[in-house]
Amino acid sequence: MKNILVTGGAGYIGSHICVALLNADYKVLVLDNLSNSKVAVLERVKEITGRSLQFVKVDLLDTQKTAAVFEENSIDAVIHLAGLKAVGESNKLPLHYYRNNVVGTLNLCERMAKHNIKNIVFSSSATVYGEQQVLPIKESAATSPTNPYGRTKLIIENMLRDIYNADPDWNISILRYFNPVGAHKSGKIGENPRGIPNNLMPYIAQVAAGRIERLCIYGNDYPTADGTGVRDYIHVLDLVAGHIKALQKLVERPGIMNHNLGTGAGYSVLEIIAAFEAITGKKIPCEIVGRREGDVAIVYADCSLAKRELAWSVDNGMREMCEDVWRWQMQNPTGY
Ligand code: NAD
Ligand code: UD1
Repeated sequence: MKNILVTGGAGYIGSHICVALLNADYKVLVLDNLSNSKVAVLERVKEITGRSLQFVKVDLLDTQKTAAVFEENSIDAVIHLAGLKAVGESNKLPLHYYRNNVVGTLNLCERMAKHNIKNIVFSSSATVYGEQQVLPIKESAATSPTNPYGRTKLIIENMLRDIYNADPDWNISILRYFNPVGAHKSGKIGENPRGIPNNLMPYIAQVAAGRIERLCIYGNDYPTADGTGVRDYIHVLDLVAGHIKALQKLVERPGIMNHNLGTGAGYSVLEIIAAFEAITGKKIPCEIVGRREGDVAIVYADCSLAKRELAWSVDNGMREMCEDVWRWQMQNPTGY
């Protein structure tokens, strides 16, 4: 399995995956419609690795162009990241999310089947779990996503399971990411949100950089030690390492598998702010406001299955997550 198609490869996580794949001697073909990314990122990927990759600007909703990609290239496996991911936006534009994420994946899988390419690693999310009473969350926990974005992920997971049930020659890895943060150690690639960030870490980084006045903390009345929400933040480089392990596992032990990728540790919003302040020496002005709709108190993963089955572990803690976000932010104050 040497030729890897990375859908969404120009995005935040996809660009880091491209670096890891190239460093591991894979050949990389990126398919992206650039709806949430810039092609400039791929130049950075080449700079970091000293290797080249191929890029096609294609939308997975465009069946003809997607078909041409499969006809014109040799592909052994697909890492499928292309998708829309903003929870709030998905509440407002559910049809757009279902079409883009579900129909896009359906088109991709149909093409794969036609060309007898049956190896896929899929970017799912901890959002499929919704609110859980039992922590840490295991893969066996019942799923109940609370927003359209999360439901698109669950529909795709179920579609992949049905594909496998009908044809066990497929090799499928479903990875449920917890909260990916951080950036490449070079500071050349990182998360580049459009407009005001939705997520905590990029928001804090922009406050520290003086681009946003203050952070709004969404509630301090949760049943947690300090009242603020607790999440399982994972460094993007550790997340990416999990994908390489999953890809290798598909060769060693074909079949379908589902793994949580997190660290197993929960950090509150106030703990993240304190860690970021300690590392950057910057004060993060903040204000407590009401809870954000749809938020839950505590989410963290049981990652023992991924550790055991993928022989995977994390190398980076909260210090590295903050340091690397800050380096990226300082080197690229306005993104790419
Ligand atoms: P991102 O927006 O940076 O990357 C997604 C990429 O997919 C973008 O470059 C976008 O242009 C592309 N894309 C979207 N729709 C497409 C389509 N129809 N055809 C072709 N390209 C398309 O997001 P990311 O943070 O890198 O996330 C990657 C994947 O991981 C997504 O599927 C996301 O749902 C999932 N995920 C992300 C997080 C997170 O916090 N970042 C958490 C859990 C799961
Ligand atoms: C969000 C998504 C989730 C996705 C995950 C991973 C929502 C509701 N959920 O989860 O589907 O899988 O990202 O990227 O968007 N916070 C603040 N102020 C802010 C931003 C966040 O206090 O400006 C708090 C939140 O209330 C939460 C924590 O910080 O307690 C983390 O928030 P965020 O980074 O948005 O991630 P999640 O809510 O876990």
